[in-house]
Amino acid sequence: MTASYPALRLRRTRSTGWSRRLHAETVLTPADLIWPLFVCDGQGIEEPIGALPGVSRWSVDNIVARGREARDLGIPCLALFPYTQPERRTEDGREALNPDNLMCRAIRALKDAVPDIGVLTDVALDPYTSHGHDGLVDAAGYVVNDTTADMLVQQALNQAAAGADIIAPSDMMDGRIGMIRTALEADAHHNVQIMSYAAKYASAFYGPFRDAVGSRGLLKGDKKTYQMDSANAEEALREVALDLAEGADTVMVKPGMPYLDIIVRVRQAFEVPVFAYQVSGEYAMIEAAVAAGAADRDAMVLETLLAFKRAGCSGVLTYHAAHAAKLLAR
Ligand code: PBG
Repeated sequence: MTASYPALRLRRTRSTGWSRRLHAETVLTPADLIWPLFVCDGQGIEEPIGALPGVSRWSVDNIVARGREARDLGIPCLALFPYTQPERRTEDGREALNPDNLMCRAIRALKDAVPDIGVLTDVALDPYTSHGHDGLVDAAGYVVNDTTADMLVQQALNQAAAGADIIAPSDMMDGRIGMIRTALEADAHHNVQIMSYAAKYASAFYGPFRDAVGSRGLLKGDKKTYQMDSANAEEALREVALDLAEGADTVMVKPGMPYLDIIVRVRQAFEVPVFAYQVSGEYAMIEAAVAAGAADRDAMVLETLLAFKRAGCSGVLTYHAAHAAKLLAR
């Protein structure tokens, strides 16, 4: 034996499957997953979304079927996003406040049929506005903060009244978490949670989602005056601190994979549950690599989701949720 050969060998614990399992520092289970679903009008409808191969818009009856599927797969929570009919989209997004809009109908149907699964709802105006922005736009094209926030409060109250379990404001208006929490308390929705999209970046990775909710072609300009600048990390900590002080129960970092550093820093700075959104562009990237024959879907899905757990996430919103849960059940 030569003196320079190692006696300390980190490969030793990696040498068999049982040993790798024994030494795994992180686990991924179906209970870590939140499944985002797109809702559309009609009955018996499944409408494939071109930009998101393998993802569809579902009519409310089919959303309920997805809810049963999620429950059977051990997925604890769904996230709902509506595709609003073009004729219901207006400059002021007033359909967002219709207590009988597609979102509220989907929430009620789900809570009725599958009460033991969580329903997370998006609060923002973009599926309802004719300009595709998350809020009201003034004459100069600026998204106005405070009057938008007033609308978001009413939108959140409607969703809570319909049975939403987790209110998830994705709009990035200042102060809206506190306003929504106050209104929920006043309306006796004490156990309705708020998961704030606290560190949400103005990202190129949202393109396929905007196709899915039908806002891509409508969007005038970009969302950089309200969503965060990708250059910033310290500012993400300020956003998280504010949302927690205002009453958020949990916080989200979005997108996911390019922002793992933000997840780690938020977890280190605040001992609160952090969630990641593996967004539409990340899903599309994986599917494009698979379609090109460049990578193995199952391995990529499980590896990317495990990375969020390793970074410190309590859970992940992912369009691969059902597929991942099936893989994990094997
Ligand atoms: C809109 C909203 C967006 C997403 C979730 N809520 C898009 C945006 O901000 O333009 C993106 C989700 C995804 O890309 O999967 N408030």
